[in-house]
Amino acid sequence: MYKDKILNLLRASRSGFLSGEELGRKCGISRTMVWKHIKSLEHEGFGIEAVPSQGYRITSEPDILRKSDVEQGLMTRIIGREIHLFPEVASTNTLAMELAANASPEGAVVIAETQTGGKGRLGRKWISPKGNLYCSVILRPDIPMYKAPLITLMGAVAVASAIRATCEVPAAIKWPNDIYIAGKKVSGLLTEMSAEQDRIRHIVLGIGVDVNMGLDALPVEVRATTTTLAAETGKRVDRTMLLRRLFIELEHWYQAFLRNDAEVLGAWNALNMTIGNRVAVSGLGETLEGQAQGIDSDGRLIISLDDGSLRQVAAGDVTILKR
Ligand code: BTN
Repeated sequence: MYKDKILNLLRASRSGFLSGEELGRKCGISRTMVWKHIKSLEHEGFGIEAVPSQGYRITSEPDILRKSDVEQGLMTRIIGREIHLFPEVASTNTLAMELAANASPEGAVVIAETQTGGKGRLGRKWISPKGNLYCSVILRPDIPMYKAPLITLMGAVAVASAIRATCEVPAAIKWPNDIYIAGKKVSGLLTEMSAEQDRIRHIVLGIGVDVNMGLDALPVEVRATTTTLAAETGKRVDRTMLLRRLFIELEHWYQAFLRNDAEVLGAWNALNMTIGNRVAVSGLGETLEGQAQGIDSDGRLIISLDDGSLRQVAAGDVTILKR
């Protein structure tokens, strides 16, 4: 697209102006067409200074995700091979499930700037204001159904790794797949699956990361336990960079998982903040309290209760208790 090319030419000459004539020549279009694309970029939120006889110069970039920026130089083979990016959807997971049922390929990704009906784990809502990351990835692993929960653990490893690499903050995983920084939640994952008999048709891995929103966008009751990457790093985080890194980490850990899931469990263990702590696990009508011992090969949490007995938990909410 000429607009993307003009944008990249302007970005490359950050310090100086580029004339409409030069931009037109480089793209093979008229100066009038250049002007139209400049207006369209301004409409997207770019600050562009136009000086007669000198040309155009970018003065500011909006905090928006652009498909061509995400795709630029992306080295992944599977994840992000199709990118569907929307200003607003009900839920990227719901849309990805629909696309997957209509034969979208493995690695297709749905991304939205905001969700009106974002879904969280255990039937909760995921409040989704602008400025964060909401994306869902379609996967078609050829694995037995009992291994499906490991896909969520794999996703958590990828998200924590992407956050660590992009923001240099100590992101850690709370079982099964919440990402925390310094005791506050920054990201959550929701996996949905379509299956028949014992065959997985497709899995959608939904990822929400709180990046640049103001915490006042959230209901009061969750503000104290939530953080954002901007709050942790003290500056606005480039969501395009984070997303591109997330694709790379997902591709790496998904392939590792298909080769040998023990590798993913090892990485999960290294990044987790749950094991070894005293925890309360609620879900399925009961609350268990005890010491988190580890996870088994199917990703279930092993807890040693105070009477010395061991319990394995497949789903629930963990609270880490102070000793
Ligand atoms: C949780 O911690 O409860 C899981 C939250 C998962 C939220 C993400 S945002 C993108 C995707 N679309 C949804 O509707 N939910 C997931």
